[in-house]
Amino acid sequence: MNSFSLSDWLQQWLAAGSEPVYRQLYRLLRQAILEGQIQPGARLPSSRSMARDVGIARNTVIQVYEQLAIEGYVSATTGKGTFVEDISQDSIEGVGAPVPSVDVGAGQTPGPNLSDRGQRLIGRLGFSKRQHGAFMAGLPDVAEFPLKVWLRIQNRQWRQADPRLLTYAPAGGFPPLRQAISGFLHSTRSVNSTAQQVVITTGIHQALDVATRLLCDIGDTVWIEDPSYWGLRNLLISSGLNVVPVAVDAEGIRPSMADRKNPPRLIVVTPSHQYPLGMVMSLARRRWLLQYARKHGCWILEDDYDSDFRFGSRPLPSLQGLDEAGRVLYVGSFSKTLYPGLRLGYMVVPEGLSEDFASAVAELYREGQLMTQSIVAEFVREGYLSSHIRRVRNLYAQRRALLIDAIRNSYGDQLEIVGDEAGLHLVLGLPDEVDDVQVCRDAFDRGILVRPLSDYYLDPARMRRGLLLGYAEVPPDEIKPAFRLLAGVIDDALAGIAGEGQQVADRNR
Ligand SMILES: Cc1ncc(COP(=O)(O)O)c(C=O)c1O
Repeated sequence: MNSFSLSDWLQQWLAAGSEPVYRQLYRLLRQAILEGQIQPGARLPSSRSMARDVGIARNTVIQVYEQLAIEGYVSATTGKGTFVEDISQDSIEGVGAPVPSVDVGAGQTPGPNLSDRGQRLIGRLGFSKRQHGAFMAGLPDVAEFPLKVWLRIQNRQWRQADPRLLTYAPAGGFPPLRQAISGFLHSTRSVNSTAQQVVITTGIHQALDVATRLLCDIGDTVWIEDPSYWGLRNLLISSGLNVVPVAVDAEGIRPSMADRKNPPRLIVVTPSHQYPLGMVMSLARRRWLLQYARKHGCWILEDDYDSDFRFGSRPLPSLQGLDEAGRVLYVGSFSKTLYPGLRLGYMVVPEGLSEDFASAVAELYREGQLMTQSIVAEFVREGYLSSHIRRVRNLYAQRRALLIDAIRNSYGDQLEIVGDEAGLHLVLGLPDEVDDVQVCRDAFDRGILVRPLSDYYLDPARMRRGLLLGYAEVPPDEIKPAFRLLAGVIDDALAGIAGEGQQVADRNR
């Protein structure tokens, strides 16, 4: 597209609506780059001529070019102009910049020097090279982070300049934060604990790491739900544990008779919102699980990663709150409620374990970040966390509705939507014949990030096909256009299986 037709195209689409011109221009240019209408290497019109041709302020154009440059879509060379980047090129270093091939269900070839468990970890990696963009699952909208309040508290804490906040953390973390979390979890999640039972971590990953080190030996059996979150699954596998994938049904984890005959040392579950399918563990199943754990001396790790975001009903009380035998370790973090990069979480451990867990975290990881912990403590204590959650929950509910609308408009009831009542993502079911990994690869090539449901299963016999779509961090005006791009890929995949079916029918005729 040359500069003349680009201006025409923009003029045609820049609507006199409620959306600020800045956002419209940014979205349109990004879309044109992603869809290849503006080719890699093309020079964008200068900000001056673009502003004049399209009839908007030059500053707006400059801001949009800067934003596109930050995200890796264009690069600016002084005196030469702004050029479109080749977004099929590898640029992992740039935050938010596109990367070449899909990053799902892949893994890389492990180096020859790795241990067996190291090989198992590297051979099946789950983490994404991109951590931002439609429809990346599991992300809150970090742009909604209440920065003003945060800065006010931060300035206050730094002004007090307590030197003790700048050294290593005491075992268990900053005491006022442990106290604040204990109170918050009691009122919101019915978690019963003293402040001493709360151990501050860098997130759920670290909580599971320390729990397996303290409670399991190499070779011990651990049950995980199948499907389950790749991050925790891979952590367990690479810890040298015997990881047994256990089926889930509408009521949560459902061990078979054979499973039950071999009680595990640890059971990792997501009772409030099964990850990734979204079911809630029934009361009957909770009672059964607690009884089983008590009888066989198992530990239960309750991963409560996103249950603050329920749309139809209030969040459900925790499993920990029902536990009278002290078998449940409750873990959570601020990754979804504040922002993932904060790397701050907590575990609530049974009374008899609290001192050992606090010491182990201090010993293994030499924790710090007391200043940050003190800011979060104030943030929680003064009620800002609760009001922030209430506010973004409404935003996420709107985005979820927009995405469901977009799906229904394209597919009616043809494709099933699963697990949309809570959290930050939903699952869009696909027919078993569709290769969901390939759909994700094709979507990635069009700038859309989705993850294949099949990749979350360990047992191939249970594997279902589908796509995980995160909606919480996608601005409302981007949901429909992004889904349109994705629908193009899904349509091709559905047409592919219909075509194959037709060929088989023709052959059998
Ligand atoms: C089910 C589940 N548990 C745990 C985590 C990671 O939590 P954290 O960021 O606290 O380590 C995630 C992240 O997406 C998740 O989906």
